[in-house]
Amino acid sequence: MIKKHTALLAAAALLAVGASHAAPPLHTDNMGLSKTSVFDVPTPKVYHYSDAAPGTGKLLPRAYPGAPPQVPHDVKDYMPVTAESNLCIACHAQPDLWGKKPEAGVATAIPPSHYTDLRHEPGKVTDHLINARYNCNQCHVPQTDAPALVENTFSSKKTR
Ligand code: HEC
Ligand code: HEC
Repeated sequence: MIKKHTALLAAAALLAVGASHAAPPLHTDNMGLSKTSVFDVPTPKVYHYSDAAPGTGKLLPRAYPGAPPQVPHDVKDYMPVTAESNLCIACHAQPDLWGKKPEAGVATAIPPSHYTDLRHEPGKVTDHLINARYNCNQCHVPQTDAPALVENTFSSKKTR
C-alpha cells in the first residue's frame, strides 16, 4: 500500500514538473515569425542590398567550407540572367586567373569546378562552363541588411 502511495506521489510530482515546462498557449499573434496576428497583413519592412559597384565590394565570409560565396556587390544591372544574356560571365569567366593570387578589385575567376560535368565526367575540367552552373544566382546571392528572424547558432570553421 505504501509503495502504491509513493508511486502515485511520484507520478503527481512528475506531472507538476511537466506542467511548469509546458509550452505557452498558442495565440493568433505568437504563431508566426511576424509577431503580429496571423489575421493581420502587415506591410513588410524595406531592407536594402549593397549598392557597392563590382570592384569596390569587400569579399564576404563563406557560410562553411565549400559553400558558394555570397555576392558582395550590386547586381541589379545584371539581373535577370537569361539564356541570351549573362553579364556575370562577362566579368567572372577568366580561367587564365586559375591558380593565381586573387587581386583586390579583380573579379574572382569562375573556378574549375564550374567547367566540370560532375554528373557524367567528374574530375575532367572542360574548356566551357557547364550548363548546370549557368544560372549563377541560383547559388550565389547578395545579402540585405535584414536582421536574422531567428537567432542562428550554426558555426563553422572560418574559411578565410
Ligand atoms: C562588372 C564586372 C562584374 C559583373 C558584371 C559581376 N561581377 Fe561579381 N565580382 C566582380 C568583382 C570585381 C568582384 C570582387 C569583389 C569586388 O571587388 O567587388 C566580384 C565578386 C563576386 C563574388 C564573390 C567571390 C568570392 O570569392 O567571394 C561573387 C559570388 C560574384 N561576384 C558573383 C557575381 C554574379 C552572380 C554576377 C551576376 C549577377 C556578377 N558577380 C556580376 C565583378 C563583377
Ligand atoms: C549549382 C550551384 C552553383 C552555380 C549555378 C554557380 N556556382 Fe559558383 N560556386 C558554387 C560553389 C558551391 C562554390 C564553392 C566551391 C567551388 O569553388 O566549387 C562556387 C564558387 C564560385 C566562385 C569562387 C571561386 C574562388 O576561387 O573562390 C566564383 C567566383 C563563382 N562560383 C562564380 C559563379 C558564376 C559567375 C556563376 C554563373 C556563371 C556560378 N558561380 C554558378 C556553386 C555554384
